This record gives sequence, structure tokens and C-alpha cells, in this order.
Amino acid sequence: MTGIERLRDEVAAHLVRARERTTLLTGSVDDHDLVRQHSKLMSPLVWDLAHIGNQEELWLVRDVGGREPVRSDIDELYDAFKHARANRPELPLLGPAEARGYVGEVRDKVFDVLETSPLEGSRLVDGGFAFGMIVQHEQQHDETMLATHQLRVGPAVLDAPPPPRGAPVGPAEVLVPAGPFTMGTSTEAWALDNERPAHQAHTDAFFIDTTPVTNARYAEFVEDGGYADRRWWSEAGWAHVVKTPLVAPRFWERDGDRWYRTAFGTTAPLDPDQPVVHVCYHEAEAFARWAGRRLPTEVEWEKAARFDPATGRSRRWPWGDEDPTEAHANLGQRHLSPAPVGAYPAGVSALGVHQLIGDVWEWTSTDFHGYGGFEVFPYAEYSQVFFGPDYKVLRGGSFGSDRSAVRSTFRNWDYPIRRQIFAGFRCARDASPEESV
Ligand SMILES: [Fe+2]
Repeated sequence: MTGIERLRDEVAAHLVRARERTTLLTGSVDDHDLVRQHSKLMSPLVWDLAHIGNQEELWLVRDVGGREPVRSDIDELYDAFKHARANRPELPLLGPAEARGYVGEVRDKVFDVLETSPLEGSRLVDGGFAFGMIVQHEQQHDETMLATHQLRVGPAVLDAPPPPRGAPVGPAEVLVPAGPFTMGTSTEAWALDNERPAHQAHTDAFFIDTTPVTNARYAEFVEDGGYADRRWWSEAGWAHVVKTPLVAPRFWERDGDRWYRTAFGTTAPLDPDQPVVHVCYHEAEAFARWAGRRLPTEVEWEKAARFDPATGRSRRWPWGDEDPTEAHANLGQRHLSPAPVGAYPAGVSALGVHQLIGDVWEWTSTDFHGYGGFEVFPYAEYSQVFFGPDYKVLRGGSFGSDRSAVRSTFRNWDYPIRRQIFAGFRCARDASPEESV
């Protein structure tokens, strides 16, 4: 088998896996649930479904394949920039059966294109990039659809085994030494434009939490009156917490002296050892201030994840260069919650930091911008149009992120008020000169 044949098989396996997940997420609810809007923040699931097919058609059938359009008449309907999520239910969308037929027809053509594409010779197809971009796009929408499931009201329709048990992780924080390291990538075949290029970044010495902040620790902040104490909040955060108003993480509810959390239609006592999830940037920042700490910058996060002090090089993943297995991280919707801290000892970084990949997206204090040397590829709407102070960077992926759509260099971004995403955080602090040696 040649390298290209092997790559073709890998691409095909990723496409199949993504479609199985899409089929699960759209097949586990009835047609009424598919076409209705479960939250103003989200599209109807049937919009995501046909949009997945439409992006696949645009890039792989028409662009890479040079084939005739399947349905050019619907391009406008499924252009995410033309219609805000809140307005999508009013559009003359394809119905569930039509949408399924459409994505199936596109996929058949894509397998045909994959058979004949040389997968080399142009930047768009080298290493299977365009196919990888479409695999990631589908998986990203699958994570978005999983968030829609979380917002859906009604009996549980998704099922998964509980995550593995937690375990002690040693000291609560880890010292990251001062100095340069290599951030970003110029070599990952499927890395998106905003992860490029690889470049030297520098940090002073700092401490970062060994694990994400847990429910138990976050509940202390809630019970200490954190949401009512102006001192812990930024100006924008305080305005938001008062106006909304926010009193606890989304999907938490108090009954007597106990906290409960509702996830995917099931309400259960809060697991004290799982990372807190469904908190916005402002809540993360307020907790950190209350705890006498701060959020890590994006540079700090990536250094904690990738820097190997023994060799001075940056690893592909916290644990090394090999792709994630089930032992390394809680990814891919295998479980329907973050795993308790310490559940993935095999995923620890060279510096001793746990659960950087999977479980919860982690808010960083950094605004979303391109790295020095950033180049749009292959379209500005993937990330460049979002650069600026409106969005904060999140890192590491969640239990709902697929391994094809997360890397140690992968950058996600969102508004600082967003809570429907599977986001939590960990804290950091500066190291004093005495601590730095
Ligand atoms: Fe999209």
C-alpha cells in the first residue's frame, strides 16, 4: 500500500466516523425536534445537517472535484454568514428527509472524488487538507449539535457509559519555567490557518493548575457569595452578571443543601470531582480573582501543554507525539460529561499538567488574533473575520470534541458571555523570583 493509498483510507475512515456521529445526533430525536429551535443561540438541528452537506459540496465536490453542483440553489440558505442562528428556523430549509437525502448524495460524490484525487500537488489537497478541513467542520458541528442536545428540554435520548474514575494528581499546581518555546505549527497536515505558523513564544515563570477547576471548588465560590460580590468581577463581567442575572453555572440547580446538574435530560447530584462546565469567561475570571489567581494566557496554556524541558522541544500532544487513544483523554462524546480530575494519568504533559486535552474547553485570557506570519487559508471566514477583542481564545477541546478536530495547537474562540459551549477553565499565577529557580 502506498502512502497516498493509506492516506485515502484514513480520510475515508474519518469521513465515515464523522457521519456516524452526525447520524446519531440527528437520528436520536424525532422530526419535530429536528426542525424546532431549542435555543435562540442555536440553529435547528436540521439546519446543521444540511449545512454540513453544503460545505462538503462546496469544497470537495465543486472545488477539489471540479464536479457539477448538487444543489447550488441552497447555497445561500446554508451560508452561516447570511443568516444569524436566531433567524434560521424561519428559512425555507430542507426538511429532515430531504436534508438526509442531500447529505447522502453529496457524500457519495465525495467518495468518488477521494478515489481520484491525487491528494498532493496543490496546497488545498496536500496531505488530504481539504478533506481534513471538512471532517473537522462536520465534527465541530457535531459538537455544536451536542450542545443543542444539552439545551433541549425533554427526556434523555443520548446514552453513554460514565467516564473513568478520578485519582490523586499530586501537587495542585505546576511550575512552568521562564523561557522560549515553539508555539503553533507549520507541519500538522490538517492544522487550520489560525494555528500557523510555528513560532517562538516566550513566558516568564508561572504556575498553572494541575487540573481544571472542579465543581467542588467552584461551588465554594458560589457559596461564598461570589456572584454577588463586585470585587471579583471585571466591569463587563459585573454588568453581565447583574443584568442576566447569573447565580451559578448554567444547568446547576440547588435543592436544600445540595447542588444538582442537568445534563442531556438527566438530573443528578453534582459530581464534586468533575471539572466545572458551562461557565462563561466572566465567571472563570471572577473565580480566579476570588481564588487569588488569574486565568492563563493562551501562550501559557500551550507551553504547559507542549513544552518538554528535558529536550527543549514542543510535543504534538501533552503526552508525546502519538495521536490520542482512549487512555489519553476524554474526547469524542464517548462519555456525556467531563471526567473527574486524575482520570487520565496517561495524558499528563511533560511538566505534569493533567487533562489539557478533552473534558472541557479552557478559557484563556487572550483575545483571538492571528499569529505573526498568519496567512488566510483557504478562506477568510474560517477565522480571520473573527480576529479582534470581541472573542476570547479557548483551548484543549471538550468531551464533545473529536480527536480529528482538536490538537495542542488548536484554537477555539467565543464571546466572553457564552455558556452553552462545553467550557471550563484552570487558573494560573505568576511565580515569584524565589519560586522561579
Ligand atoms: Fe459551519
